[in-house]
Amino acid sequence: MDWKYLPIFPESASNFSPHIDALYAYLVTVSAFFSILIAVVIVVFAFKYRRKSDSEIPVPLNEHGAGSMLLEITWSVIPLLLSLVMFGWGAMIFFDESKPPADAMDIWVVGKQWMWKIQHLEGAREINELHIPVNRNIRLTLTSEDVIHDFYVPAFRTKTDVVPGKYTTEWFRPTKVGEYHLFCAEYCGTKHSGMIGTIYVMNANDYDAWLSSGGTVGSMSEKGEALFQQLGCVTCHQSDGKGRCPKLVGLYGTNVELKGGATVVADASYIRESIVNPLTKIVNGYDGIMPTFQGLVTEDQIQQLIEYVKSIGPKSAAAAAGAQAGTPKNNPGAAANPARGTRP
Ligand code: CUA
Repeated sequence: MDWKYLPIFPESASNFSPHIDALYAYLVTVSAFFSILIAVVIVVFAFKYRRKSDSEIPVPLNEHGAGSMLLEITWSVIPLLLSLVMFGWGAMIFFDESKPPADAMDIWVVGKQWMWKIQHLEGAREINELHIPVNRNIRLTLTSEDVIHDFYVPAFRTKTDVVPGKYTTEWFRPTKVGEYHLFCAEYCGTKHSGMIGTIYVMNANDYDAWLSSGGTVGSMSEKGEALFQQLGCVTCHQSDGKGRCPKLVGLYGTNVELKGGATVVADASYIRESIVNPLTKIVNGYDGIMPTFQGLVTEDQIQQLIEYVKSIGPKSAAAAAGAQAGTPKNNPGAAANPARGTRP
């Protein structure tokens, strides 16, 4: 659908935009049709059935048999069907937006009063700007350092709460090179309205040039490894498994058996929790001896540590996660250029 001649929607620049615009067009059309219909009927009936004399008494429906079951059923069933379409259609888009494709490119985001901090796996970092290649599936993993923010890109029709203490994800595939607005869409303090930024969607070559132009030292996982040494994690989490704490090699994405018999998947949220709140989930066979690192590492650093744990994870973890997440669809970018899809 092309809204060029009716500019009530923001620019359409992601894989989701056409679907959401079509759903909105349906919602607006149905609402407008019934609003006008009801308003017209009210006015017409006010004249047609007005009281014509002081002594006039209306005829009760049932005594005359004038009520119509067919009419009652019709005006109940039609709106029911119309609203079920809204529900089904909306749910389909919601599920689509909730499931990032397995080949999605990871980018980490931290919101804080009042800025967006972004880290690319290759090590590039930016503030209030996000550079991404066009026609690639992008998955953002977001968290907040303080209060709830909300990462909102109208041109992509995506909007995700950014919550302290947990990770949320958002994915999209930008379909058009250009610059787009980024907003915080959750009131987060006095400068909430200034918590804005720009998304730069670039050609693949321009993006690669941008990535290598920043002069960044080390990828996220390399920075994470350095932290792992500095913070002394390595003294207990030894790579041969002989340390006092569980070994982290081959851990990422696997099932971990906890004290008490429960299991948990070693994903980003679990590793984050184990760093800031290590005693919440204790691995079976180990003692709860790890101190908390809350306040000692920033959210950015926790993300680097997670990337390090990911980098020493099982080789098959990515493939297994891919099988779980379902087959990637709607991804001409990766299909046209498979080599790019293999980037970690
Ligand atoms: Cu951050 Cu509003």
